[in-house]
Amino acid sequence: MAEPAKIAVFISGTGTNMAALLYASRLEGAPFEIVLVASNVADAGGLELARIEGIATFAHPHKGHSREDHDAAMEQAAKDAGAQFIVLAGYMRILSEGFVRRWEGRILNIHPSLLPKYKGLDTHARAIAAGDSHCGASVHLVTPELDSGEVLAQAKVAIASEDTPEGLAARVKLAEHQLYPRAVAEYVSRGNDPEYLLARVRELALALPETHERESHGSPGFRVGTEKSGKFFAHFNDQHHGSQHIAVLVKTGSMDELLGLVETQPDVYFKPAYYGASGWIGVILNRPGIDWDHVAQWLERSWCAVAPARLTKLRDAADRF
Ligand code: GAR
Repeated sequence: MAEPAKIAVFISGTGTNMAALLYASRLEGAPFEIVLVASNVADAGGLELARIEGIATFAHPHKGHSREDHDAAMEQAAKDAGAQFIVLAGYMRILSEGFVRRWEGRILNIHPSLLPKYKGLDTHARAIAAGDSHCGASVHLVTPELDSGEVLAQAKVAIASEDTPEGLAARVKLAEHQLYPRAVAEYVSRGNDPEYLLARVRELALALPETHERESHGSPGFRVGTEKSGKFFAHFNDQHHGSQHIAVLVKTGSMDELLGLVETQPDVYFKPAYYGASGWIGVILNRPGIDWDHVAQWLERSWCAVAPARLTKLRDAADRF
């Protein structure tokens, strides 16, 4: 099994979501571990709980510091602890754009509403005032725009006619404690999840002109051209023939190129069984920090190598504009 992902949790308050994450991380087989709990509030309740549980903590009050400087100190602490992801759990600070950009795709937040409804504060009171039947919580990726990144998971909570914002908030938190550990677990495991990786490859492959999916030897493959006479330009491999890789196979220009890439970048490429002999190279997908633009470039190159001239000509012409 893959090593658990290392996460730093940032809190400002009671830290009950952090506690839910922490105890979830201690269950058998959990795919993440908390390496740091950090706060902008020196006496945040959650820091004490983390200490009792033997987790490293860091407190850095924001007063008297610019947003950038404060973020930089928090970021350094996360890096020093070896964090691969930052998980915000009731961290009531808006983050500077530079910080968010540096962690893009690796920073998550939980927000007490069913986004895109009710971004910002007072979410429970606003849901009650609007007469909504439900509110809830959303786990989302953090982007520079507040509460606007991709929503990864949501939990719904019914609103009762006699609800107060405080009572409702308490119930929403119960739901959050179920939702957040599961959403974080799923997110950090994506990189090893063949279904997720196949979906990404499929999206990129089928975005190329005149492509379709066709199974080949029991594995998904992608072809260019007509259903009748199309040719494969990519094959998806999930740990085939004893290999530990989840990979997409694409066409190289020559055996020399294939062998050169495999030799110089063995963490990115490998020579697949059978297919390798005819110039297909494996681009490893289940590796940390995978660059999907790089995968897209390979797919396009492989598409160009096998596409009929009528399609590549059109593309060359389009490129000239
Ligand atoms: C949670 O309800 C969380 O959704 C909310 O703060 C609370 C923190 O509780 N976060 C936000 O409002 C972020 N905009 P906790 O400290 O007990 O986990």
